[in-house]
Amino acid sequence: MLIYQRNVLPILLVLYLLLSNDGVQGEMKLSKLEELSLEKQLKLLNKPAVKTIKAKWGDTYDCVDFYKQPAFDHLLLKNHNFHPEMKPTLSMKKQIPSNSTIDISGTWLETDGCPSGTVPIKRITKDDLIRQRRMPPSEDTNFIHEETGGFRRAIVKTPDNASNKFAGAGMVASLWNPSVEGAQNSACRLKIQKGQDSVQVGWRVDPTLYGDTKTRFFIHFQAGNKHCYNTLCPGFVVTNNRLVLDTVFKDVAHRGANTNWELVMSIDRDANGNWWLLVDERMEVGFWPQKIFTALSNDFAENIEWGGSIYSPPGVPYPPMGSGFLPKTPDPFLDAYCRALTFSNDKGEKMNAKNTPIFLDSQVLYHVIDKPDWEYVKGAHQHIMFYGGPNED
Ligand SMILES: *[C@@H]1O[C@H](CO)[C@@H](O)[C@H](O)[C@H]1NC(C)=O
Ligand SMILES: *[C@@H]1O[C@H](CO)[C@@H](O)[C@H](O)[C@H]1NC(C)=O
Repeated sequence: MLIYQRNVLPILLVLYLLLSNDGVQGEMKLSKLEELSLEKQLKLLNKPAVKTIKAKWGDTYDCVDFYKQPAFDHLLLKNHNFHPEMKPTLSMKKQIPSNSTIDISGTWLETDGCPSGTVPIKRITKDDLIRQRRMPPSEDTNFIHEETGGFRRAIVKTPDNASNKFAGAGMVASLWNPSVEGAQNSACRLKIQKGQDSVQVGWRVDPTLYGDTKTRFFIHFQAGNKHCYNTLCPGFVVTNNRLVLDTVFKDVAHRGANTNWELVMSIDRDANGNWWLLVDERMEVGFWPQKIFTALSNDFAENIEWGGSIYSPPGVPYPPMGSGFLPKTPDPFLDAYCRALTFSNDKGEKMNAKNTPIFLDSQVLYHVIDKPDWEYVKGAHQHIMFYGGPNED
């Protein structure tokens, strides 16, 4: 668990491993053949467990031998030389912006992690497979602009410029639990992209993906036509034996309450061209190997996005985003936000993102207030963007 406490706004942040949950139901009648095919699929997807951890929120994590984790089913990773003690070879030219006030006084509290040499992978159930057949197409390749239905974003981004070269990006996002049902989902994420390739990290409420309406930690990657969340398809190499993807955040913001819960995240390209996922700025979760990409392989990102994204299938009203209210006055206790927006240049130097145009798919439902130089605490300025909006009637 990571806890951030700041002077003025008491902010507690967490990747929390403890929560009760009512679990997942899938009442499906399957033919014998389908049953067999699902069993076969599960056998391929779920790797042998050295140890099994039952999370308080109901999910089961298998401690899988590092070398047997799902990532290495990827055809392009057959001859990898990765090992469990890998660390990002990041240049340490970090220029933490003098005016940003991310206070890293957090500690990582021990829960029973996986034995060293193994990594925690969420066990996939039959219900997961059945539900996830209805997953929407990737946001990148399919913007459905029908009367209702499709993706809607309320974000800030880097200006379009083909000569942009970003070696990473970061943000601190407040955690919310927008009310989502059925095939809708609602998320907040940091995304870096070039061409057909992208990687994302953030939180989301997504019943199709998870079978519940909890706020969860997620990652997503797209490499050409291939894309998936978390470790549902081969690609992301987990190196951390205690921190789990899909975590349920036990604590989320409540509008008007005087406490915020935040997630600190960044994506950084190391000297080998691999894209690392870090939380709490220092803690590596794992990485996307450069080999799995085309545009993001041996190259820098061209675009960075920070903010909210929702989805509903055609004919279904849009869900709320963020706090569920249109941001009106900049107030971190009323509306969802992303703050401390940073990027790294091609030399690996971290900077404050300053010039970030707003992008909205819908001018009506969701808004953004962008404050590139906001006095976050007295005398200290920070880039913060507020986003969100209500559900569609
Ligand atoms: C830092 O804050 C000071 C005072 O608020 C301001 O004058 C200065 O321009 C800021 N520097 C940066 C790099 O934002
Ligand atoms: C794109 O970026 C390059 C290099 O940073 C810069 O010289 C150029 O002016 C930018 N173009 C636009 C249209 O902003």
